[in-house]
Amino acid sequence: MPRRAAPARKSPSAPRRSPSRNGNARNAERSTGSAASKLLDGCLNVADLEVLAKRKLPRATYDYYAGGAEDERTLARNRAGFERYALLHRVLVNVERVDTSASVLGSAVTNPVLVAPTAYQRLADDRGEIATARAAGEAGSLMTVSTLATRSLEEVAAAATGPLWFQLYVYRDRAVTERLIARAEAAGYRALVVTVDTPLLGRRERDHRNGFALPRGMTIANFTEDADRAGFERYGSLAAYASAQLDPSLTWESIEWFRKRTRLPIVLKGIVRADDARRAVDCGADGVWVSNHGGRQLDGCEASVLALPAVAEAVGSAAEVYVDGGIRRGSEVVKALALGARAVFVGRPILWGLAVGGERGVRRVLDLLREEVALSLALAGCADLRSADRSLVVSCA
Ligand code: FNR
Repeated sequence: MPRRAAPARKSPSAPRRSPSRNGNARNAERSTGSAASKLLDGCLNVADLEVLAKRKLPRATYDYYAGGAEDERTLARNRAGFERYALLHRVLVNVERVDTSASVLGSAVTNPVLVAPTAYQRLADDRGEIATARAAGEAGSLMTVSTLATRSLEEVAAAATGPLWFQLYVYRDRAVTERLIARAEAAGYRALVVTVDTPLLGRRERDHRNGFALPRGMTIANFTEDADRAGFERYGSLAAYASAQLDPSLTWESIEWFRKRTRLPIVLKGIVRADDARRAVDCGADGVWVSNHGGRQLDGCEASVLALPAVAEAVGSAAEVYVDGGIRRGSEVVKALALGARAVFVGRPILWGLAVGGERGVRRVLDLLREEVALSLALAGCADLRSADRSLVVSCA
């Protein structure tokens, strides 16, 4: 029997006693809130938030979020890759004002650190993807909502305070896929992110050892209506669900099929090769997202930051280029921008924020990273993102 992850408590720092009998629940909520704020204020960086999240989450949930495929070599490589580049700062540039704003497929953001799609966010906080979407908007960022979200794409759109993209896993049953696309369009999502590095699910051994499964009552919220065809309930694990439902026969022709079926811009997520990047552009992709799925798919794959320069060069100005994988510091964002990314995405840091402080926790993560980006840019002699050009980084073996 798979061991089900216990749902996270609603607030990380909630006092264990319940509100007084005469019902002063609001006071209790206030003290819960201020305790959570204190915890968050004490976190000075993403690593601090991970420590607290690890303490708070059930082991199986932490492992599901933190883990990678097989020996987790790519997971480690994503972090180590940043050490292969060093910054060469400019001096005597007026950086009294540093502008961290960018435009991604026509959406204006004031934070170049955007939210990558991650499944199962209600394991971290009961409001799940709703809390993340609100925080992302408030932080001037943009959220990509996963097909495997635990809140429906419509619920998330209704609560969102900023731009949203929809991440699409392609189902064997094309009717299911087409309905998802139509729903994302109707709900106001601004781009379709097709994940192309997941024909099958990578082997995540931590999850196998833990017998990881969603707790009873929690499900992939996008499929309540289609429960008979794409519902999650009858599958014990994500791996079983993915291999039964997701289409491993997806090819470049399928991307052309999508191009004809949606008016939304299309981003291909999971590209690490220059030839694939060129092909993506030829198929009409508007964005190329360099990613190895946070080391959760092909173990042994190159670090995404090391794959980025060749992809950026191959794409040129024909499409926008983004990157994710192991980004935990503003200085790493600046390296990625200098190597050709227009903006970057983070996955796990958002989950750590969500686990520690719900919406406020995600906001804290995004604010911290934006502040670090602004400081690193200033110290590197860049008054805006565009000034972080290729000359700002050198490779060091
Ligand atoms: C993911 N990722 C992911 N990607 C995707 O396209 N659809 C998805 O549903 C998910 N789900 C998911 C769950 C969890 C728990 C993680 C950690 C990751 C991959 C994600 O979008 C992104 O590529 C990586 O997380 C980026 O690496 P970092 O920032 O987590 O190091």
